[in-house]
Amino acid sequence: MIYLGYALAIFTLSIQTVQCTGPREMTWSNKSFGPDGPWQAVNVIVGSNSSDLMQPTSAVALYPGGSWESKILLSTLCDNTTLSPICYADKAGLFDSDKSVTLDNNSIQLPPYGSWDDLDWGYTKAVPVYARARRATDWINIQGTPIPEVDLILIRAGWQTYPNGRAYPLEVGTLSLGSPELNQTFGASIKINTTFINSYLYDQGGVHSIPSYSYGMHIGSASLGIPGSLHMGGYDQSRVIGDVSSQSYNSGSFPIELFDMSLGVAEGGSAWSYPNKTGLLGHGNSSMTSGLTVIVDPTNPYIYLPQSSCDAIAAELPVTYQPDYGLYFWDTSDPQYKKIVTSPSYLAFKFSKNSLNNEYITIKVPFALLNLTLEAPLVETPTPYFPCMATNSTPVLGRAFLQAAFIGVNWLHSGKWFLAQAPGPDASFIVNTATMDENNPSVSGSSSSWEDTWKRQWVVLPKPSTITTNGTDLNTDTTPNIGLSTIAKIGIIVGSVVGGALVLALICGCWIRRRRRQRQDPTDEDSHTILDDRNMDKRQSQLLEAPVNEWKQINELDPDLQRYEMASGQCEIYELGPEKKPIFELDHKGTSHFGPFELPERSSMSRPGMV
Ligand SMILES: *[C@@H]1O[C@H](CO)[C@@H](O)[C@H](O)[C@H]1NC(C)=O
Ligand SMILES: *[C@@H]1O[C@H](CO)[C@@H](O)[C@H](O)[C@H]1NC(C)=O
Ligand SMILES: *[C@@H]1O[C@H](CO)[C@@H](O)[C@H](O)[C@H]1NC(C)=O
Ligand SMILES: *[C@@H]1O[C@H](CO)[C@@H](O)[C@H](O)[C@H]1NC(C)=O
Ligand SMILES: *[C@@H]1O[C@H](CO)[C@@H](O)[C@H](O)[C@H]1NC(C)=O
Ligand SMILES: *[C@@H]1O[C@H](CO)[C@@H](O)[C@H](O)[C@H]1NC(C)=O
Ligand SMILES: *[C@@H]1O[C@H](CO)[C@@H](O)[C@H](O)[C@H]1NC(C)=O
Ligand SMILES: *[C@@H]1O[C@H](CO)[C@@H](O)[C@H](O)[C@H]1NC(C)=O
Ligand SMILES: *[C@@H]1O[C@H](CO)[C@@H](O)[C@H](O)[C@H]1NC(C)=O
Ligand SMILES: *[C@@H]1O[C@H](CO)[C@@H](O)[C@H](O)[C@H]1NC(C)=O
Repeated sequence: MIYLGYALAIFTLSIQTVQCTGPREMTWSNKSFGPDGPWQAVNVIVGSNSSDLMQPTSAVALYPGGSWESKILLSTLCDNTTLSPICYADKAGLFDSDKSVTLDNNSIQLPPYGSWDDLDWGYTKAVPVYARARRATDWINIQGTPIPEVDLILIRAGWQTYPNGRAYPLEVGTLSLGSPELNQTFGASIKINTTFINSYLYDQGGVHSIPSYSYGMHIGSASLGIPGSLHMGGYDQSRVIGDVSSQSYNSGSFPIELFDMSLGVAEGGSAWSYPNKTGLLGHGNSSMTSGLTVIVDPTNPYIYLPQSSCDAIAAELPVTYQPDYGLYFWDTSDPQYKKIVTSPSYLAFKFSKNSLNNEYITIKVPFALLNLTLEAPLVETPTPYFPCMATNSTPVLGRAFLQAAFIGVNWLHSGKWFLAQAPGPDASFIVNTATMDENNPSVSGSSSSWEDTWKRQWVVLPKPSTITTNGTDLNTDTTPNIGLSTIAKIGIIVGSVVGGALVLALICGCWIRRRRRQRQDPTDEDSHTILDDRNMDKRQSQLLEAPVNEWKQINELDPDLQRYEMASGQCEIYELGPEKKPIFELDHKGTSHFGPFELPERSSMSRPGMV
């Protein structure tokens, strides 16, 4: 009975966490998706089977990003078994619209109307989508917060066509993160207002409201264990490294001037015969020597550039062009392949900073992130590929690029979107939530070193000068340091568990103190607890650094298990964030309700159970 009490208390607490105003963090799926990833996606629930109780119907994972309509795949998508006998879209989940009583697929009189037609999917048409789709609105539920009348395009049937002319099934829908308008309004006489998840939370959110109509996102990497990060009304400052460029958006798109692309090495020796190579964007195409406007778009998977640019990069890599796909396959038998994708080699994108012609921001995408995998149904066996797609269509930097970049936008007032370097797999991933202020929107980066967030992943190549005349390679950095990385991560997990209990105890202490005095500025208490948590982590990871080989073995035995452990550890960290908030909720939400549960005891008892 006592345990039930504790469980109830925790349950109530976690409900309360959802109710605090402030930036809102989205939950990512613990699965990853293909067929050209692995990519990460966020979890939402579409539709509801009872308008009173808002019983959610279909849990689906969607690629977040893009603007205006969200594109939702219906459960009829896999009815066409000629296209594929296997329903690949089942992995992310399909929307069973028959079960939803809140669906409105009749009111909006604007194409597409449900007959076969081309369908825009992101800003490039390099891989056109042909589909039977229809406009609609329905509820979307994010972590217990229902959002009504979300602007949707429902896809009943459809496929995407690769350059070889073959049709391949669609697998994952997209979740729009707003538009320059609060609502998309349809109809001449009778106006139908459709919402977006972040515009609704900002404008009509009430107790769930977010501070601005904005978001900040780093999609991370499933294969390298960089968790996804998406905040609405704010961003995670630890996902922003160094300079931030802000520039105007255009309708719903994020254009930016790309001046050049280059190859480089962050530390140690080079995999090539030169330390760096610039001029790859305009190589062999004089019309691009002064730059090219590209659109950054998380709903498209690849990096879409004119053939000459992709070819110029590919000429420096052990890859072969595959005209069937418009992509390049890595030649895994070439020793240069392993050298490039495991060393600190990167592809750098030099952009105009703040829309200026004489200021630059460079985003470095390590080749470790550009070793992506094509899977069935695109290919029969998993094939590592280099994600540059040669196209005459709109040049787009898609998810392949965004694995290494932070993007954000503030839709109202200033109308700016933000671009910055994002961290690598050795970052701490302790969420450091920052608010995007609606009147003075800006994103400020953390001062962490980008190289440090990759150090343990990289196998540094010897510098030519360190190979001495007597033939001994003096460079000690040539051995992979993967074990350390694991330790750091385990350190974070253990640290956060121990730290979590401590922090909770602290918070509860604070709460009790707070009950005695008047409510005060919440922010400084928050920063204290975050600091405490970090110090714990550092100490813990130092403690754990000794038995390198043991951890290495564990890692080698079951890398997947490792990844999941890490993921749950991170959830733990994320939970700390919101849990700090309800304290203030509790304060003014009637203490009698919560009175019976003695907070400090509850926290120490229930913590292990939650892990
Ligand atoms: C993913 O999450 C679901 C529930 O959210 C859980 O049932 C499942 O076991 C998790 N899978 C892995 C591999 O962690
Ligand atoms: C709604 O869905 C829930 C769970 O998915 C189910 O238990 C309930 O019976 C459904 N209600 C209706 C009216 O279909
Ligand atoms: C099923 O998919 C195939 C392959 O794309 C297509 O040719 C066919 O017309 C589709 N059938 C239906 C009923 O949509
Ligand atoms: C609207 O959705 C319902 C339920 O899925 C479906 O039966 C109906 O055919 C749809 N109507 C149109 C016009 O697409
Ligand atoms: C849509 O919003 C406008 C205000 O922007 C309002 O005048 C109109 O009545 C709304 N329409 C509906 C159907 O709620
Ligand atoms: C947006 O749509 C919602 C839901 O229909 C409505 O309540 C709200 O007034 C609309 N806001 C604007 C600015 O049109
Ligand atoms: C590129 O290499 C040259 C030497 O070839 C070096 O002088 C220059 O600093 C390098 N640039 C960068 C950005 O590393
Ligand atoms: C050269 O670049 C322009 C864009 O600036 C592009 O339209 C054209 O197709 C490119 N030519 C080749 C041969 O790639
Ligand atoms: C490239 O990626 C694949 C799939 O994630 C992985 O198995 C392989 O080890 C990677 N290659 C190298 C050299 O790291
Ligand atoms: C190689 O040279 C380094 C110094 O240049 C020296 O320390 C080392 O002992 C030498 N090794 C052999 C095997 O001669």
